Amino acid sequence: MPRVFSGIKPTGNVHLGNLLGALVRWADDQHRADSLYCVVDLHALTVPQDPAELRDSTLRLAQILLATGLDPDVCTLFVQSHVPEHTGLAWLMECTAGFGELNRMTQFKDKSGKEGFVSGGLFTYPALMAADILLYDTDEVPVGDDQRQHVELTRDLAERFNSRHGPTFTVPRATFPPAGARIMDLQDPTAKMSKSDDAAPGTILVLDEPKVVERKIKRAVTDAESEVRFDVAAKPGVSNLLSILGAATGRSPEEAAAGYTQYGPLKADAAAAVVARLEPIQARYAELAADPAETTRLLAKGAEKARATASATLARAQAAVGL
Ligand code: ADP
Ligand code: NA
Repeated sequence: MPRVFSGIKPTGNVHLGNLLGALVRWADDQHRADSLYCVVDLHALTVPQDPAELRDSTLRLAQILLATGLDPDVCTLFVQSHVPEHTGLAWLMECTAGFGELNRMTQFKDKSGKEGFVSGGLFTYPALMAADILLYDTDEVPVGDDQRQHVELTRDLAERFNSRHGPTFTVPRATFPPAGARIMDLQDPTAKMSKSDDAAPGTILVLDEPKVVERKIKRAVTDAESEVRFDVAAKPGVSNLLSILGAATGRSPEEAAAGYTQYGPLKADAAAAVVARLEPIQARYAELAADPAETTRLLAKGAEKARATASATLARAQAAVGL
């Protein structure tokens, strides 16, 4: 069985793009692969965080992951900071990565340009991400396109470490979701839907009430024609609605387009499909939110499970470098 590892940051609210682009896949993968899913709270610290809010978002995100169908008896679900081996191996990865190599990461360039305070952690974060992945002898890393470069770096670091110090790490590969799984902002369909403030009209949150989902989709930007077809370049708004309708109902965007001649019914059906998709997740989330101690217990068990592998890998890597 392949080993799968993926992580998600506890910043901002989980949105429909996260769900349809990543979390649905995670829930499927747990049954065909030996999967580990991690709430990467250490990565959130690369930019300033309010402590109480971070603690809250970490728990809430874990509850959403459970609500989307991750089964702690089938996969390993844990919080990054609960497994101290992540920071232990991160240092070895920082010392394996070249300064120039880290300096070429386009995400650092993008993000550091937007921040007032640029932490050292924002610069070295790909080394921590490499540690996250390599600790678990990971074969596959399901990620979005924006993480392609970081997984490439992880592969380079694993190969370099192995050739310097002898076989220590499994060299992982990135896997990407199908094209229709990329969900765009409803108000600016040329930009991907992303974590932003709760009221953002272009972002559907997994915890949005049905009325809110309906309103946001009803107001989604389309175009001046009235033809329904999947054509991302010429019709980004309509194509996004088709991606949403398709992904929410387990079809390709092209299949989802069949039978529509007007935007109104497409929007109504997309909204209904999203509401139906979110309903059981929200119901399960409400149960979990009512009993935070249960989630905390599940996460502690997950961390214990993860540590069994992580500590063996870290010990192997430390011995290899002479520690
Ligand atoms: P965000 O970009 O909103 O901060 P993350 O970077 O935490 O979200 O991403 C978590 C997962 O969700 C990643 O696998 C990422 O590729 C996926 N993802 C994020 N936004 C979208 C989107 N708009 N459409 C599809 N998948 C997405
Ligand atoms: Na991202």
